[in-house]
Amino acid sequence: MKDFGQMLQSADWKTEKHVPVIECPDQVKAGDLFSVKVTLGKEIAHPNTTEHHIRWISLYFHPENDKFAYQVGHFSFAAHGESADGANKGPVYTNHEVTASLKVGKPGVLYAVALCNIHGLWQSAKEISLA
Ligand SMILES: [Fe+2]
Repeated sequence: MKDFGQMLQSADWKTEKHVPVIECPDQVKAGDLFSVKVTLGKEIAHPNTTEHHIRWISLYFHPENDKFAYQVGHFSFAAHGESADGANKGPVYTNHEVTASLKVGKPGVLYAVALCNIHGLWQSAKEISLA
């Protein structure tokens, strides 16, 4: 049996369209709110069709020297052109982009995990230090 972590694929987001891109300050002040934007396909667009799309992105924070990671948010993208008229004929598509607002009390690492409905789970990470 595989360890769950072995199912999380990673790569350079500049060459692989499935890798979440985490955009936030490298350094923040403890207790101050800051924004974290997570997207996919910043360099190479990922499809958003009824047959092939990003279902969700989850964001976690792992504080330095902590045993546990904390879930910051889970963001579902539910509309991909489904319609009674058929696939890709619907009136609305949710784009796989989200901005979360958070504050931290310790330095640590943000982890984003995204699920493509046919290409599985993809991860990326970004370190955050304290000013
Ligand atoms: Fe995909």
